[in-house]
Amino acid sequence: MNLPDLKEAKVRTKKEIKIIRDDYQVPENMKTMGKDKKYYLKTYGCQMNVHDSENIKAILEDMSFTETMEMEDADIILLNTCAIRENAHNKMFGFLGRVKHLKESRPEVICGICGCMAQEESVVDDIKRKYKWVDIVFGTHNLHKLPLILEESLEKNKQEIEVFSIEGDVYEGIPVKRDSKYKAWVNIMYGCDKFCTYCIVPYTRGKQRSRMPEDIIKEVKELVNNGYKEVTLLGQNVNAYGKDLNIDYTMGELLEATAKTGIDRIRFVTSHPWDFDDKMIDIIAKYDNIMPYIHLPLQSGSDKILKLMGRRYTKEKYIELFNKIKEKVKNCSITTDIIVAFPGETEEDFKDTLDVVNTCKFDSAFTFIYSPRIGTPAAKMKNDLTEQEKNERLYKLNKLVNKYANEANQKYMGKVVQVLLESPSEKPGKLMGYTDTMKLVNVEASEEYLGKIVDVEITDVKTWSLDGKLVD
Ligand code: SAH
Ligand code: SF4
Ligand code: F3S
Repeated sequence: MNLPDLKEAKVRTKKEIKIIRDDYQVPENMKTMGKDKKYYLKTYGCQMNVHDSENIKAILEDMSFTETMEMEDADIILLNTCAIRENAHNKMFGFLGRVKHLKESRPEVICGICGCMAQEESVVDDIKRKYKWVDIVFGTHNLHKLPLILEESLEKNKQEIEVFSIEGDVYEGIPVKRDSKYKAWVNIMYGCDKFCTYCIVPYTRGKQRSRMPEDIIKEVKELVNNGYKEVTLLGQNVNAYGKDLNIDYTMGELLEATAKTGIDRIRFVTSHPWDFDDKMIDIIAKYDNIMPYIHLPLQSGSDKILKLMGRRYTKEKYIELFNKIKEKVKNCSITTDIIVAFPGETEEDFKDTLDVVNTCKFDSAFTFIYSPRIGTPAAKMKNDLTEQEKNERLYKLNKLVNKYANEANQKYMGKVVQVLLESPSEKPGKLMGYTDTMKLVNVEASEEYLGKIVDVEITDVKTWSLDGKLVD
């Protein structure tokens, strides 16, 4: 048993990160463990978790399990969890109630918890005390050890908790079962060293560890050869890519090398304004296959709050960067993340945030009420706002964000845009996909167009999506 420890998770060691390129193998004796058995995997959280789930699926399928979409049919149920806000916690514990119910009638079902919540000391404490029936818990640093963790738990017939607080090495070649045949997530780095004062991620994902450029490019080339049209380079703070490597190589260079593989579309998330250098902007502007879409979290428009958040930029610097990107990258759409009701946020501070929204007129924004995370510095700060005040700020902000999102979409009316049609739409007879600027479009088209990048004329505009028809 290995339990998570918050104090350990906070430490950044100088230990050199090894890149492990051994061929990943499920142990021979476990390859048929899942024969005639099914797994159900529920994923919460960000793209990082979605991609981790693609690894977990491949590992389980190498053990002969097959996937089911019905939890009730499963022999093994795994919850890949997110710790970012309180409601992510509540959702997962709510779901766990359903699993408990199922386990009462079928005790042989294996229930596992992994992902960011598994890295939290307080959560694992709770699981040990109140959820003794959960069979396995493993963290973000050792998901490749899943077969061994399962074996241990089955052999000993007791709860198996294997969570490491200190990140491990970078493992290459962990199998992956991608959800899409056309677009792929590609990790370029793990962890985060920014330690924004409100954020749990540096504790749950460990220190920043970049993959080597050659490994990333090799993966992208393989995707191109397999017919993939789009890659999204993934990291908590992709602009800092390479800074932890002993080579002189930055995100700008990685973007350029990726562009030269010839893949049709390149995206990247998430960018922290702090490390966004001119070279990166120039490369994005230069290559047509790097999409003109940037997610650039603002968090707050108040210098005082930004300082308390540890974001290391000011309102003015943010707007300056925003304008520079808009100037150099043609037709670029920019979205953002904003937190309201951070401890100490006055009405004046909140107005500063609205002011930046009025200046930047974001294409869209994810907005959140601040949620204290145990162990982070902000959790100890005093917050005088009432629930009503918090909700009112969120409501006001959303109203403004929606207004600009709608205005941004209106500009597309009647225009012809390129869309990668990626799956059937919820609307019958239509396919859905995204423009290069990341606008969701529902297009009247038959399934033969799936996986193709097509010209689409926009015929109708809504706040969160566009409708269009194929241009002959
Ligand atoms: N690495 C990314 C953010 C990842 S988390 C970045 O720095 O840009 C996604 C978003 O969740 C953050 O941008 C922030 O807006 C929000 N978030 C993170 N911690 C939060 C907290 N404790 N309460 C409310 N929102 C939070
Ligand atoms: Fe969290 Fe800040 Fe790191 Fe983003 S950059 S993951 S908000 S600590
Ligand atoms: Fe959530 Fe972990 Fe991502 S906390 S947002 S799943 S890195």
